[in-house]
Amino acid sequence: MLKIDNIRLKNPLVLAPMAGITNLPFRILARRYGASLAFTEMIDADGMFYDIHRHKKEFRTNEEDNPIAAQLFGARAGTLPKAAKILEKNGAGMIDLNAGCPSFKLSRKNAGAKLLTQPRLLGELIETLVSAVNIPVTAKIRSGWDDSVNVLEIAHVVEDAGASAVTIHARTAKMRYSGNADLSIIKSIKHELKIPVIGNGDINSPERAKEMLDKTGCDLVMIGRAALGNPFIFKDTLEFLESGTVAPAHTKEEKQKALLELWELCKEMGAAQLSELRMHACWFSKGQRGGRRFREEVSTKKTISELEELIKTNFC
Ligand SMILES: Cc1cc2nc3c(=O)[nH]c(=O)nc-3n(C[C@H](O)[C@H](O)[C@H](O)COP(=O)(O)O)c2cc1C
Repeated sequence: MLKIDNIRLKNPLVLAPMAGITNLPFRILARRYGASLAFTEMIDADGMFYDIHRHKKEFRTNEEDNPIAAQLFGARAGTLPKAAKILEKNGAGMIDLNAGCPSFKLSRKNAGAKLLTQPRLLGELIETLVSAVNIPVTAKIRSGWDDSVNVLEIAHVVEDAGASAVTIHARTAKMRYSGNADLSIIKSIKHELKIPVIGNGDINSPERAKEMLDKTGCDLVMIGRAALGNPFIFKDTLEFLESGTVAPAHTKEEKQKALLELWELCKEMGAAQLSELRMHACWFSKGQRGGRRFREEVSTKKTISELEELIKTNFC
């Protein structure tokens, strides 16, 4: 049985945290298609104290959204544990510390992937989080800020500080999204640590997910960009892992149905904005015959009802 601390997971597939994307409706759809664990987008621990109502917008969950890891970013031992406690009280099942985001918005505050250059601070922050909450604490790292970082040392710091799992996006922060994720790094980390390791980077097909599991020995695989407009990646991967069956390409009708299911969830959960529907409509039409024409039409729709009508009557 796959577990992170005391949390049981029904399969090894994890939805990645993605800022501006992995809100509650998106996570629910991914779960309905098979993801066993999902992460929220990153939440600013300091920001939660400038605006005390902010977490209500940034962290929403429900019974179906379970288990849920709430991701925090920050570099201050004063705010991180307080923010983690609020999220725990509001239903988070795990707290994940972002130590992988390369963006300047985070690194100028010493947070995100910048923490990889400060192993002692990283360890202290995880320790304070672990003592603040009664739920598992995890960390998401990259393979370094640049090549000078010893990622095995970082992985040990994370484990020794009491984290219950570590996610590794196997690229350095300097690489951002260039080059390929280096599976050998995930393999070395898995070899060294006792806690579960979540492998991440470039999983865009069931075959790649299997390769990640087989080549690195990691416990779970995390999928990000390949889930955009494509919740099927979870279901198809599960099928492939269980029986070796390669799912046929998904039809226009299946894509339209999944898009409309996501939109219904957005409406139920107070996330029904024109920009949200546009973004998902464009992703779902990627690779579809007539997709380009459809996306051009999407951009001309000025109201939600016009766009909904287009999706229902003329999806690609
Ligand atoms: C639009 C976008 C937003 C992201 N936001 C976050 C985030 O909030 N926290 C985080 O740890 N990683 C974030 N990531 C990184 C992903 O979680 C993941 O590590 C990365 O995309 C590599 O996985 P993939 O190749 O499966 O996409 C983001 C990635 C994308 C594309």
